[in-house]
Amino acid sequence: MSHILITAGPTREPIDPVRFLSNRSTGRMGFAIAQAAAEAGHTVTLIAGPVELPTPPNVRRVDVVTARDMLAAVQRELVQADVLIASAAVADWRPETCSSTKLKKSGMNGVLRLVPNPDILKTIRPQKGNRRFIGFAAETGEPTAEAGRKLREKGLDLIVANDVTAPGAGFAVETNRVTLLYPDGRREALPLLSKLDLARRLIALLPAL
Ligand code: CTP
Repeated sequence: MSHILITAGPTREPIDPVRFLSNRSTGRMGFAIAQAAAEAGHTVTLIAGPVELPTPPNVRRVDVVTARDMLAAVQRELVQADVLIASAAVADWRPETCSSTKLKKSGMNGVLRLVPNPDILKTIRPQKGNRRFIGFAAETGEPTAEAGRKLREKGLDLIVANDVTAPGAGFAVETNRVTLLYPDGRREALPLLSKLDLARRLIALLPAL
């Protein structure tokens, strides 16, 4: 049995006490992976951005808000893990400053300055050791070229590519249609599956990675 670390959901990057930048991720795919991993008897730690989902049974959950919080949690929790499955939709940019008081429209000029967030997978790559890393690539349109680039750049053992605009795939639906890409160039297009069935297939693949 392995100790599996999973990231899920969006991150939220504050602008002021009432506003933030984020994305449409609901966390469903990552929570389904956590459920499937726990059902298979693995030890599971789930690092979750702000989502509206119950914690699956026998899963240890760590809640985070920003990409930098998520990175810190991954760095801390990775030490005990054998496998990392990064399904979170991490915000690539954050506001340069976060105002401690609500911004007033009269005091704004229409420009919000952004700075890049750290790439979690690239940052922790030096700590990979013998661990297996699985990533996700959510693209609009044919995903495999971009997913192949991410697989190489992030040093992954498997990437799960999906076109979030395809029927039955993407955010806030219970199904997903993905293609698996491996570092040796192998590809496997899976049929439309429920997110839980896809999660079970991914967990079942782990011994072969
Ligand atoms: N990811 C990450 N840190 C980030 C952004 C993404 O670790 N700051 C991870 C995601 O969890 C996912 C993989 O990298 O497993 C690909 O994420 P994606 O958002 O598809 O790609 P990006 O690296 O953001 O690239 P691009 O903006 O070019 O699509």
